[in-house]
Amino acid sequence: MSEHVRVLFSEEQVRERIAEMGQQISRDYEGKQIHVICALKGGVMFMCDLAKCITVPLTMDFMSVSSYGSGTTSSGIVKIVKDLDESIEGKDVLVVEDIVDTGRTLSHLLGMLQQRNPKSLQLCTLLDKPSGRVVEGIEVAYSGFVIPDCFVVGYGLDYDQRYRNLPFVGILSFED
Ligand code: PRP
Repeated sequence: MSEHVRVLFSEEQVRERIAEMGQQISRDYEGKQIHVICALKGGVMFMCDLAKCITVPLTMDFMSVSSYGSGTTSSGIVKIVKDLDESIEGKDVLVVEDIVDTGRTLSHLLGMLQQRNPKSLQLCTLLDKPSGRVVEGIEVAYSGFVIPDCFVVGYGLDYDQRYRNLPFVGILSFED
């Protein structure tokens, strides 16, 4: 079996959409300071490029909550691999993710962050796969692209830790 990656969103499409998202976020948070929380590892490329398109004052912190095993489906097991360095109390927090699929990871993460009393808490994801949702009620304030039921890699997203470095978002398939 060989792995094949087909382009879903090109590097240019991703760049243009992120620029739009950055402008929208900058408008929405005018007069405020955003505390961006990046969910490692998948969200890191998106966060870096998005942050460069945001014009309001911004600080960053990183957290790692893992839900996937080494396969292509969510295991449902959510564990904190790395907690934040700083308190989020009283801050306008924007969580940046690469993908919301089953919603298990974000449900867990947002619930935990809400208990730490941020002033506001919003979610920004590059990709949203509504067909994968197992946990309902997750509010996505900013979504780059809604994607169909397929396994995506690239631009931070991995299969068995590989493909994160692709500059585009692709669909992974397996061929004989
Ligand atoms: C991926 C992704 C999200 C989560 C989404 O992370 O970055 O955090 O899965 O899936 P869900 O909606 O089904 O919970 P993963 O645990 O694979 O870690 P990674 O970011 O290091 O790739």
